[in-house]
Amino acid sequence: WAQHAPYIVAIDQLKRDRNAVILGHNYMPPHIFHGVSDVVGDSLQLAIKATEVRADVIVQAGVHFMAETSKILNPAKTVLIPDLGAGCSLAESITPAGVEQMRARYPGAQVVSYVNTSAAVKAASDVCCTSANAAQIVAAMPGDTVIMTPDKYLAQNVARQVPGKRVVWWDGACMVHEQFTAEQVREARDCLPGVMVIAHPECPPEVLAEADFSGSTSAMMEIVRSRRPERVMLVTECSMAANMASDLPEVEFAGSCILCPHMQKITLENILWALHTMTHEVTVAPDVAEPARRAVQRMIDLSR
Ligand code: 13P
Ligand code: SF4
Repeated sequence: WAQHAPYIVAIDQLKRDRNAVILGHNYMPPHIFHGVSDVVGDSLQLAIKATEVRADVIVQAGVHFMAETSKILNPAKTVLIPDLGAGCSLAESITPAGVEQMRARYPGAQVVSYVNTSAAVKAASDVCCTSANAAQIVAAMPGDTVIMTPDKYLAQNVARQVPGKRVVWWDGACMVHEQFTAEQVREARDCLPGVMVIAHPECPPEVLAEADFSGSTSAMMEIVRSRRPERVMLVTECSMAANMASDLPEVEFAGSCILCPHMQKITLENILWALHTMTHEVTVAPDVAEPARRAVQRMIDLSR
């Protein structure tokens, strides 16, 4: 932490000068998650908190779609992302034309798009969802068939939870979670007796079938904090384990480490630079922002 301290002090000062808050996703490394974030959480929590913060400036310590969501919900605030290259393999897998293609294939079906999408894709969708509320949103949709974009694994996992609906999906995947295999989980259980396995729903269904629990990044943290297992394997981006390890020294965090290269683009240096220069501002054209906001707001209303 010694090398981080000068940045943390300088960022704190600039936050006060700019009346800024930092929204930190659960996948930020500890020096950002614990060091400078004012609000931390999963995608849903950050989206909701974004509507509640009293600040002129939001710095999104996360990826670009999260910053767009904050801007959509806070049109009067300045939203900054410290690195414009902080994308997401899911968000990049689909465009509004892809949504229209799915609508043409399944006429009349509602389109539920994961928040891990561009503002333009949200605007072309009927409602958004996150990993925390996807099953609830799909269950609330009218009609027998529901289109989910862009994560095929989240869709397949939700389909099992909502047997009353026919869920169809776009062929996208998270470049981190698609790497996990059921074999890895079985091997971990052999080598680490008693290990509790918790998997994110962006993992393939056969991985979830081997897990003891599945949920959003915050739900995963919550279950570890409440159950305090002796050993846990978090089948997700590995900054999560690092963020919890300091608070829970009695828990052994096991398993392999996969980092999201997009989340890793956010650093203390570029957060400081973002606040100093007020770059990179994230904007969403009003004709996109309005329908996108409706899709996000409908999700928030349905998940309360
Ligand atoms: P959560 O909504 O569970 O925080 O997940 C976001 C994400 O990008 C997972 O890869
Ligand atoms: Fe996107 Fe996967 Fe990175 Fe999450 S972990 S931001 S879904 S690429």
